[in-house]
Amino acid sequence: MPYVLPDLPYDYSALEPYYRAESLEIHHSKHHGAYVAGANAAHAALQEARQADDFTSLIGLEKSLAFNVSGHLLHSMFWKNLSPDGGGRPEGDLAAAINDSFGSFESFRSHLTEAAVTVPGSGWGALALEPRAGRLVVEQIYNHQDNLAHGAVPLLVFDVWEHAYYLQYRNNRADFVGSLWNLVHWADVESRLAIAEGIAVEVHS
Ligand SMILES: [Fe+2]
Repeated sequence: MPYVLPDLPYDYSALEPYYRAESLEIHHSKHHGAYVAGANAAHAALQEARQADDFTSLIGLEKSLAFNVSGHLLHSMFWKNLSPDGGGRPEGDLAAAINDSFGSFESFRSHLTEAAVTVPGSGWGALALEPRAGRLVVEQIYNHQDNLAHGAVPLLVFDVWEHAYYLQYRNNRADFVGSLWNLVHWADVESRLAIAEGIAVEVHS
């Protein structure tokens, strides 16, 4: 199977009180686990379809592949974007890039907060590098795979599906997003920016 559920880089209780252990355990083991299983199943079903030369279910399988692989990718990033020692503000190259692209950290923070809180239905708010312009952008992702600018590389993602917060925050998505800012692992985000800057333009030119 090409996909495996990664372990969290911390204990389920490590993000308390902002993210309760019960919420985090269900989110990781059940929800993320389901996307891993779904992504593996999509690959297997597509291989079967090719071998049988039967593409009658192709549209649904392609959608399943996009949905589940994207869900797996975003959750894997989300866990590493958070840390028990997170919060505060970015420094160094990431802070400079945020200032260049958004004017100030406060302006960026307001933009990403609003994007995450107002996602219609299920989705994500994301900070991404858009390599053609060489700028950071905020994206509002629908489900896991829609409303994206091709080629933009996500660096920091906020999961705002109800499964991410409902157990602890009920319907108060804005409170959950506010709590996430206390957990952001800026060193992880900065390392992703450095990697993305190195590869993105060549790949998408
Ligand atoms: Fe999630």
